[in-house]
Parts: sequence; structure tokens; C-alpha cells
Amino acid sequence: MEVIIRPTKFDAAMLAARLLAEKIRKKPASVIGLATGRTMECVYPKLVDFHRNEGLDFSLVRTFNLDEYIGLPPEDKNSYRHYMNHHLFDHVNIDLRNTFLPDGMAEDVELACAQYEEKIREVGGIDVQLLGIGRSGHIGFNESLSALKSRTRAKALTPITIEENSTLFDKPEDMPRRAITMGVGTILEAKSIILLVTGDTKADILAKAVEGPITSMVSASAIQLHEHCHVICSADAAEQLEGADYYNWIFENEPEWESYR
Ligand code: F6R
Repeated sequence: MEVIIRPTKFDAAMLAARLLAEKIRKKPASVIGLATGRTMECVYPKLVDFHRNEGLDFSLVRTFNLDEYIGLPPEDKNSYRHYMNHHLFDHVNIDLRNTFLPDGMAEDVELACAQYEEKIREVGGIDVQLLGIGRSGHIGFNESLSALKSRTRAKALTPITIEENSTLFDKPEDMPRRAITMGVGTILEAKSIILLVTGDTKADILAKAVEGPITSMVSASAIQLHEHCHVICSADAAEQLEGADYYNWIFENEPEWESYR
């Protein structure tokens, strides 16, 4: 794992977007795992910008989102399908048929989850998975005690996640209490991972995820098991990282980061 600390949330998002863009340039038919949420709202405009101004080509890209609320149809403005169309898909040359999210309206949720896993396998797995972290320590919607080997399934959301996300709904009480999420095991099978963390409200949970013990109480700590994982964070989110000086030294001195400094 490498931790890269950037001065602001915009610098952190820019670095994450550049790493994703580089992956797509190297492999135009990349399979990209995507996340939603406030953190990612700084990333997608950069990808749109790379598409418009640098010709970043999404025509062969396939995407799989981490999660979707149960009970929200795609046209609902709080659904993650709506979020993705609005922030990214409507503005780049991606074929919408190549964009996948769990089906929050599925009659048979278990079957829909199994089919989602099957679809990921069919395309050869995820090349790079973008992740955010919730204050509960979740990645996707893998709340505390999610098995580290868990697969795509329905998950009940914790009070802290409901508190965080219900403010985005016109009526907070309308926020679904359950979601379909890729499992921790599904996420760990991605060939590489980028965890993006910004804001001082995430400082405590980021330190636990990166420097604390691997525990299902903090699902994000499972990324410590991954061989190709970049954690990109803003300086305020990094405030509680004990190894910050070491992480900064690597970014400032290792040749692989030269073009990103
Ligand atoms: C959303 C997702 C979540 C978010 C996390 C952080 O698809 O997978 O894990 O990344 O809840 O959300 P924000 O960025 O809104 O703090």
C-alpha cells in the first residue's frame, strides 16, 4: 500500500483522476470499478475534462459501481445510477450498455447479486477499483462486521451512514435503509485499488483503516491485504496518520511519482 498526501481535496481528486485516466489510456478496454458520494464529485469533472480537452476515450471502457440503494429506481435523483449518469456518463463517450450498477429494484435480490458477480467475472474482473470511505469505515456499503470474504449482497445501513447520507434526500426519512453492495471479497479481487479520502471528518477512520489492525469492524482496513493499493488523501484527512512524514518522503523522492509532483 502507498499513501499519498496532497494539500487539498482538489489536488487529491486530481491525482486519483490522473491515475484512472492513465489506466484507460494504457488499456482502452479497461474495466473500472466506480464509487459515488461527495468525495467523488471532485473526481468525475476531471475525467470529463480529460475527455473533452485531452481526448480521453471511454468508448471501450466498462464500469461496475460498488453499490445501489434498494428500492430506488434508476430515474430517482438519489439513485446511484442517476448520480453516475449526471456526474460522468452523460458527459463522456461511454456506451451506457457498458455501465453496470447493482439492480436496486430487483425482485430477487440474491439472484441479482449473483448475476452481478458473474458479469464482473465474465469481463475478466475489475482492473482498477475506485473507493471512498464512510465514517463507519465502510467501503462500498460494507458496514462494520462485513465478512472480509463477503460477496455482492444486500446490507443494512448503520445509523452513522444513515445520518451521513440522509441529508442528501429532500426528506431524510425517505433514504432507504438497505443497499446492494459489492462485498469486501469482491473488492479485494480488483487488480488494483485507489482509495480516495478527503476532509477532516475522515481523519480518524482513515488512520484506523490504514494504520490500525485489519478488522471487519473497519471494512476499509481490508485493503491492507491488497498488493496494488494507493490511498490518496488530502492533508486534513491525513492529520492522524502517524507515518505521514514517511509517506511524504516516498512521494517526493521515488521516481514513479516524478510526473505527479
Ligand atoms: C458510494 C460508496 C461509499 C462512499 C462513502 C463516502 O458508492 O461506495 O462507500 O464512498 O460513503 O461517501 P462520501 O464521499 O459522500 O463521504
